[in-house]
Amino acid sequence: MPIIGYWLSNTFQKMGKNLYWFMLAEVDSKNNTCFRSRWYIDKRIVVLFTILMCPVILFCATYMLVFGIFPGISYPKALAKDVPEVNIHRALVYSMSPNTTANIVPHSNLHRDLSPHSFKIVCYYNFPGSKNSLQVENLQASLCTHISVAFASISNNSIYLEKSQIDTVQKLVNLKSLNKNLKILVSVGGAGNDGEFPKMVLNHANRKSFIRSVIEYVKEYNIDGVDLDWEFPNEDQEHDKMQKVHFTQLLSEFRKSIEHQPNHPFLLTVAVAAPDFIVQNSYDVSYMNEYVDFVNLMSYDYHYFTKETPFTGYNSPLYASENERYYLATLNINYSANYWNMMGMDRKKIVIGLPTYGHSFRLMNPKNNGLYAPASGYGKLGALGFVDYPVVCQFLNTNRVTPVFDMDTKSSYASKYYEWISFDNQQSLTYKAEYIRDNGFGGAMVYSLNSDDWKGACKQGEFPLVESVRKVLEAGKVDVEEKLVGR
Ligand SMILES: *[C@@H]1O[C@H](CO)[C@@H](O)[C@H](O)[C@H]1NC(C)=O
Ligand SMILES: *[C@@H]1O[C@H](CO)[C@@H](O)[C@H](O)[C@H]1NC(C)=O
Ligand SMILES: *[C@@H]1O[C@H](CO)[C@@H](O)[C@H](O)[C@H]1NC(C)=O
Repeated sequence: MPIIGYWLSNTFQKMGKNLYWFMLAEVDSKNNTCFRSRWYIDKRIVVLFTILMCPVILFCATYMLVFGIFPGISYPKALAKDVPEVNIHRALVYSMSPNTTANIVPHSNLHRDLSPHSFKIVCYYNFPGSKNSLQVENLQASLCTHISVAFASISNNSIYLEKSQIDTVQKLVNLKSLNKNLKILVSVGGAGNDGEFPKMVLNHANRKSFIRSVIEYVKEYNIDGVDLDWEFPNEDQEHDKMQKVHFTQLLSEFRKSIEHQPNHPFLLTVAVAAPDFIVQNSYDVSYMNEYVDFVNLMSYDYHYFTKETPFTGYNSPLYASENERYYLATLNINYSANYWNMMGMDRKKIVIGLPTYGHSFRLMNPKNNGLYAPASGYGKLGALGFVDYPVVCQFLNTNRVTPVFDMDTKSSYASKYYEWISFDNQQSLTYKAEYIRDNGFGGAMVYSLNSDDWKGACKQGEFPLVESVRKVLEAGKVDVEEKLVGR
């Protein structure tokens, strides 16, 4: 080693530089010998060292900036992104809190048809976007009582499906050979795909053309009904105040047409908003009650990341949490379902929406990770904050995260570092289905079959979430009348 030091030093000497290298040796230039010297570091060595270390330091700093100083989280690969983009609209409207909370004016002639009934399980099924999406072949004919396939469009005041979508509808109708009680409905519109509604409801001729086109579909494809998903009538209040009235007229005319042709009966359902201020704006509830077979209450997306609501919250809480007051205390299933009932919709006609997807958030501070914690955006999980159930359970498993279950709201969430996610699992959905059963509502609507774990990747069986709802409601054909009267 001294030899190397000597050689280096000698080399630099020859270049006119007197460099003392790592051996801390000094060279007697006269005698050309080397000997140990006192501790001494040349300034130039420091400079050289710094230049060499620069890239290393830069690399470390960049790494920390990009990946954080925490150990990594593994994120499941995104699955087929069938719908999410259009769903944002609803979530955004829901988050626009009104200036005041709507007053509850109970409808004077409350429909209290409490006769026992069997509960509906209305499942939304999104048309498959690709080969990897849920196909009709993967569905189970006895999981749901109704399947609403989503979404058909409106074109030239007529219901419109593409060729491949019609094929899917026909396959769905064939499922009825396996379960004769199964009903297949076509859902029209959907957030982001409902732009033709305003024009279609505008006058009698347009509405008539639409209703006629639906009846043709019913006859031709043997479907059992149509679901109208307009999000939402009269949303732009300045623009056309009559939309609410026209929508009610459409429903009324639909009912008349159904009655006029008893040979081809079909179901008429509407997917409706949950927040009370939208209900007041958009629907004549007590009239709707006369015309529709049931409403699918979209009691989810109550809390979602937007610039106006930059904090964590549950997608679909059953009850208000302890500290929620005023408007925030209205953003839950129990409030919305009772509100619809108070406004004049029969309990039996209120089918309560349950999500199979969750919502992800990115926390501002990983240590502040409870409810209403500040968030800076969607989480990395899912697409635009919408997370399918298989992605949720894969995330929990690979990162060994234990979710928190909140007994107040019957909701669960999980967080790791910057990621925060609110989601439903078998436990939360069992509570919610029991609520539906014990309070005599019409049943459960599930959005959607596609975001449930239809492959069984979570090791909880196929469609574990819808299955947990079915278990409660199928066994639950209890005498509702007795339960309610007995209170
Ligand atoms: C709330 O109040 C503001 C200002 O008074 C008004 O511009 C806005 O339209 C109101 N929003 C609703 C939903 O009524
Ligand atoms: C629209 O519908 C009307 C009547 O239903 C029909 O006469 C007209 O040809 C249609 N237009 C187009 C572009 O399909
Ligand atoms: C459910 O809603 C009803 C009606 O708004 C209310 O009276 C009741 O207290 C709520 N239940 C819970 C547990 O919050």
